[in-house]
Amino acid sequence: MATHPHPTRRDLVATLTASGLALAAFAPRRAGAGEDLPPTPACHDGDEPTMAETEGPFFKRKSPERSDLREKGMPGEPVWLTGFVLTRKCRPVGKALVDLWHADDKGEYDNEGFRLRGHQFTGPDGRYAFRTIVPGLYVPRTRHYHVKVQAAGKPVLTTQFYFPDEPGNARDGLFRPELIMRMTHAEDGLQAHFDIVLDLG
Ligand SMILES: [Fe+2]
Repeated sequence: MATHPHPTRRDLVATLTASGLALAAFAPRRAGAGEDLPPTPACHDGDEPTMAETEGPFFKRKSPERSDLREKGMPGEPVWLTGFVLTRKCRPVGKALVDLWHADDKGEYDNEGFRLRGHQFTGPDGRYAFRTIVPGLYVPRTRHYHVKVQAAGKPVLTTQFYFPDEPGNARDGLFRPELIMRMTHAEDGLQAHFDIVLDLG
C-alpha cells in the first residue's frame, strides 16, 4: 500500500486503539501484539462510497443534538452504534453531521416528538457514537436504522443500516448486504459498527 501524507484508516485505528478509545470495537480484530490491524471491510483505499437508500416516510428535520437516544424506562436491547465517517481514501471526516432515526422496540416511529431521533457531529477523528436500542420490526421492513450523513458544505448521504442474521433481510427489497453493521457483544449491550464512506477524495 502506498504511503499517504495524511493518516489512513489503519493509522487511525492504531492510534485510537493505543489510546483505548476504540478498544472495545476493534480488539476482536487484532491478530496479535505488534501486528498491523487489517483494514475493515467497510473501507479500503479508493473504495466505493457507502450506497444511498431511501429516507422512508418517517424522517423529521431538526432532531436534537445528542448521542444518547434512550430515555428512562424505554424498553429495548441497548446498542452502542459507532463508526467513522471517512473519505474514499479512508481519511477521517471531522465535523460531519450524522443524523439517526429509527423505530422503537414495538416497531413504531415517534412522528409527534423526537423519541429515538438525534444528530451529532463527528470529532476530528471522524468518529460518531450513539447509544440507543435495537429497533423493533414493522411490516414490511426488516430491522434497520435510518441515517443521514453530511460533510460540511457537501451533499447529504441518506442510507440505512441493517442487522446481520436477521430473518427479514431476505424478504426486504430495500435490504443490501453492503449495509450490514458489524455486530459484537459488549458487556452492557450490543456493539454495532459501521464506517460510512463519503464520495470525497
Ligand atoms: Fe424505517
